[in-house]
Amino acid sequence: MSKIIVKNSGALQGEIEVSGSKNSALPIIAACILNEGRNELSGLPDLSDIHIMFSLMESLGARIEFASGKTIVNCEHITNYTTPYELVGKMRGSFLLAGPLLARAGRARIAMPGGCPIGTRPVDLHLKGFAALGADISQGHGYIDLKAKNKLAGAKIYLDFPSVGATENILMAAVTALGETVIENAAVEPEIVDLAEFLNKQGAQIEGAGTDTVRIAGVRELKGTAHQIIPDRIEAGTFMVAFSATRGTGRIKNINFSHVKPVAAKLAEMGVEMRCGPDYIDIDAAKKLTTADIKTLPFPGFPTDMQAPFSVLLSTVEGTGMIVETVFENRFLHVGELKRMGANIRIDGRTSVVEGVKRLSGAQVNALDLRGGAALVLAGMVAKGDTQITGVEHIERGYENLVGKLSKIGAKVYSEK
Ligand code: UD1
Repeated sequence: MSKIIVKNSGALQGEIEVSGSKNSALPIIAACILNEGRNELSGLPDLSDIHIMFSLMESLGARIEFASGKTIVNCEHITNYTTPYELVGKMRGSFLLAGPLLARAGRARIAMPGGCPIGTRPVDLHLKGFAALGADISQGHGYIDLKAKNKLAGAKIYLDFPSVGATENILMAAVTALGETVIENAAVEPEIVDLAEFLNKQGAQIEGAGTDTVRIAGVRELKGTAHQIIPDRIEAGTFMVAFSATRGTGRIKNINFSHVKPVAAKLAEMGVEMRCGPDYIDIDAAKKLTTADIKTLPFPGFPTDMQAPFSVLLSTVEGTGMIVETVFENRFLHVGELKRMGANIRIDGRTSVVEGVKRLSGAQVNALDLRGGAALVLAGMVAKGDTQITGVEHIERGYENLVGKLSKIGAKVYSEK
């Protein structure tokens, strides 16, 4: 079983570069199904989730040539409309194939999604959207069947919650529907804007992506195009916390500051100094930091994906900080593991109360989900003694070469097969 070993690393120093966004790449790869041409995607991160998406696409008939610089996705022949459970069970993002398949073929049979065990994570909002566009939906034996007898038709869809995945799936289903679709209370995350830009380059007519009302005028067909994936704001945020938790100084390259603003604002409140360049941030966390309270919210609020790394940071600071998780109902899986490392964290429902401790202590811990796993790596860097992390496959889902990248800025982090 592979492990990550982490030793106390002192203050991190140097330059680290962010990869392309996983959460942007997944829907954009799926959206290639919408055209029969050749799509050139630049900057896709080399991650297990991305490779699962490639395997899913290939199981549908797509041809993919992956290279970390440029990936070609060709969907000329889509011959299968069922996504196999063996792959879907590994990644919730696979449900993003439903919208494009429905738009292209009028049908899709998707295994019920798996992914990080951070709550029940239903797909009801996706399904309500598909139904509004005219799809018939049935469920059974672990699969969801979607069928459109006639061509999908534009509709007005109000999302009860601004779900990222539902907004993306409905957008992709609606681009070739007859007439206009309006999504209200849409998610406004940067990944939605990236997807809409990609779809518009394919020939879609989408307006308002990045606001809570997105208008999609259906077009007859889309064509292949080229696109550069945006930088991963969660990986960037994780590096910002890595420098901060170790009281380090350095530069994070390939970053879009407007995407990490909620994280930067919280770090600034805690006393971290930052200076932005056009595509980098210089960060200096050498001064004494103070604790903070955090509430996770949809963008542009504080990202839920960053609350696990922040619970490590708050543990290194004197005083009591509170984290309220409003997006997912079970996103404190890492807390039990951090407690094994000496963290003083209490959970009450959706709130965790983090009391700073003098020193975390290295221990054997298990990554139970992606961001919680990254938090354990950060904890190991500030803890006394060695930390051994199992469940590395969770971390590898979302961080490209985390060990190699952190090592370059002085972290004592090692992979063990
Ligand atoms: C995406 C991200 C994930 C991030 C999350 C919130 C990807 C691949 N993953 O996940 O990293 O943490 O956004 O920023 O992009 N919900 C429903 N019904 C639905 C859909 C969602 O109740 O049909 C609920 C979920 O259970 C959750 C909340 O809405 O409590 C937010 O989920 P959503 O925004 O859909 O997140 P994902 O797209 O799954």
